[in-house]
Order: sequence, then structure tokens, then C-alpha cells
Amino acid sequence: MSSISLRQIKKSFGGLIILHSIDMEIEKGEFVVILGPSGCGKSTLLNVIAGLDECDEGQTVIEGKDVSGLEPSERGLAMVFQSYALFPAMTARRNLSFGMEIAGTPKATVAEKVAWVAKLLQIEALLDRKPAQLSGGQRQRVAIGRALVRSSSICLFDEPLSNLDAKLRAETRVELKQLHETLGSTMIYVTHDQIEAMTMADRVAVMHKGKVEQFAHPQSIYEKPASLFVAGFVGSPAMNFIEGRLDGSGRFVTGDISVDTGDYAFEEPWASGDAVLGVRSEDISVVDCGAPRSIPATLAFTELLGADALGWFDCLGKRFSVRLGIEAARSMRKEVGLRFNMATASIFSKATERRL
Ligand SMILES: Nc1ncnc2c1ncn2[C@@H]1O[C@H](COP(=O)(O)OP(=O)(O)O)[C@@H](O)[C@H]1O
Ligand SMILES: [Mg+2]
Repeated sequence: MSSISLRQIKKSFGGLIILHSIDMEIEKGEFVVILGPSGCGKSTLLNVIAGLDECDEGQTVIEGKDVSGLEPSERGLAMVFQSYALFPAMTARRNLSFGMEIAGTPKATVAEKVAWVAKLLQIEALLDRKPAQLSGGQRQRVAIGRALVRSSSICLFDEPLSNLDAKLRAETRVELKQLHETLGSTMIYVTHDQIEAMTMADRVAVMHKGKVEQFAHPQSIYEKPASLFVAGFVGSPAMNFIEGRLDGSGRFVTGDISVDTGDYAFEEPWASGDAVLGVRSEDISVVDCGAPRSIPATLAFTELLGADALGWFDCLGKRFSVRLGIEAARSMRKEVGLRFNMATASIFSKATERRL
């Protein structure tokens, strides 16, 4: 049985469709990240699951039970928001215990749970401080703790790390992932940050304009993006794109250049028509100018990144990023050839923007 099933979820605000028929099956214990740019409907989807927003059509099923008409408190979920929403007048301890006290949980149990979560999140020394006396990261831990003491088997997170600085964000990301492994609960985590998605998720749902464009393991999202949008959104530097057409006999043609697609695993054999070829910076090799199966290119500049480097080349009227070793970057010639590895490239239909 899935932990959460979303069936044909539709939602509009003021005549504008925000969620178009979302279907998703989330397994028990899975860490699912909903990834997409600002405004694509991530929070709306999470709020529909939590019951904070009502959908216009569709069903939300949690652990086999249709919860569509139920109040948030009746759904057995815990939620952590971007704004920590702690009570400013209460100590961290009271922020953790308040919900349980309201629910009439016995005092001894409340104390036990607060002690458990404080140890788990390493905030024992902070329990008597008020939110104003805590750093952003510490406040976020208290907010996470408050969700965890509800001991629900499902936790929802809406961009919980976006108010933290980069270093703390990276640390908390790892801690959250470890927490997921310790607790084994189902987690749905919303973010616009692809690094969070790639590092934390068992599966990533990439959203664009109210639709889920791909729902898959992070590595397959990276290696085999299902659409042009997913290809451009995931990965840094962004994938290089070349517009052209498939000639129906296994070649991708752009201007007077034609590339053999023989090594490419088409999902639709003998595809033809207008297409976009996508190659990541690590799927391009630099060869001698005029070498077979290469396209002439001119080095614009290189960027040293510490462990490796990026070369930026002008080629086919566009600028291409190519991943290079440090030594190669230092000794790069100006006029070279670029060769694409078609086995790891992506080809999309220009009309449907889907992978071919
Ligand atoms: N309560 C609301 N009333 C009207 N429009 C809303 C409301 N909530 C969200 N929206 C609109 O829905 C779209 C998606 O919002 P949201 O789900 O918050 O996106 P995300 O979390 O991906 O940034 C946005 O265009 C936003 O303006
Ligand atoms: Mg949001």
C-alpha cells in the first residue's frame, strides 16, 4: 500500500489553473522531493496534501484512507514551514510541548518526547531559550522538532532550509537525510534548490507550471531528463542545447553540420522532425580542430573550479560549457573541435518538448 496517493488533483485560484491533474504514488518510508521554480505550485500541492488548501477535484489517500474532506489535524501529518512559525513568547521547550499539551497528552509522555527529540536534534542546551535567543539554524531545529514530536509517520517540509546561510543549509541537509534514515518515516520535501533535491531524495518530482514533468530517481532525472524543461532545470552548469532536426535516417542536422545519432538510445525509433539536442558539459570532449566527428569551436574563457574546470567555447553561434581537467584547462588552445558523446546526450522533440 502506498503511503500517499494523489489522484487527479486539480486546483485553481481565481480562474487560473495552479495544479493540472496531479497523480502521484508515494511509498511508505520514501523521501520524495518536489522540485520546481518559484510559483510552479509546489506549496499549493503540499497544502492540498496537508489539508490546508482544498483541491477542486481529485482525491488524497493517506495510508489507504481517503482524507479529502478531513481537517489538517485529522490527517495525522506533521509539517515544517519555511518561516519557522515558532511562538515567540514561549521557550524552545514549550514550543515543542505545546501541541501535545493541547492534545491532552499525559505530562510524563510530553517530557519524554521533548527529551527524545532534543537529544535527536542536539538542542538539549537550548530548551530554555526563547526563539529570539536562537540562531536561524537553531530555530529551524526547534521547528523540525515540533513536527517530529507528533510522531506521525508522514512529515511534510516546505522549503525548510531556505532561510539558512549556505554552510548551515548544507549541514542541515545532511542531518535531515540522516534523520530520515533513523526514523524511517515518509517525507515529502518541497524545494526550488536542485542540489537539495539531488542529494536528499529517493525520488524527485520535477514540477513545472502546475504539472509533474518527471517523477524518478535523482540520477535518472539527471541522465535521462524526460522533458526539455527538466533537462534545463537540473544540473549545473545548465545543459547545452542545440536546435536542429532529425532527418529520419539517424542524423541530427543543424545548419551545415550533421551529427550521427547512432549511439543514442531513442525511445521512439526512427524519430524525425524538429528537435533539440542536449549535451551536458561532461558529455563533450575537446579534440583537434578538424578531427573526425567534431564541430569547430573557439575558446572564449576558462573557469577554474578547484577540483576541475569549465571551458566556455563559441560553437554553432552559441556558447557551450565543457568540463575539463585543471591541466587541460591551463593548456587549452584557442581553436579546437568539440565532439559530443551521443550515448549520454538527450534529444527532445521541439514540438512536444518531450524526450525522444
Ligand atoms: N491563496 C492563493 N490565492 C491566489 N493565488 C495563489 C494562492 N496561493 C498560491 N497562489 C498562486 O499559485 C501559484 C503557485 O503558488 P505556490 O504553490 O505557492 O508556488 P511555489 O510554492 O511553487 O512557489 C502562484 O502563481 C501563486 O501566486
Ligand atoms: Mg512555495
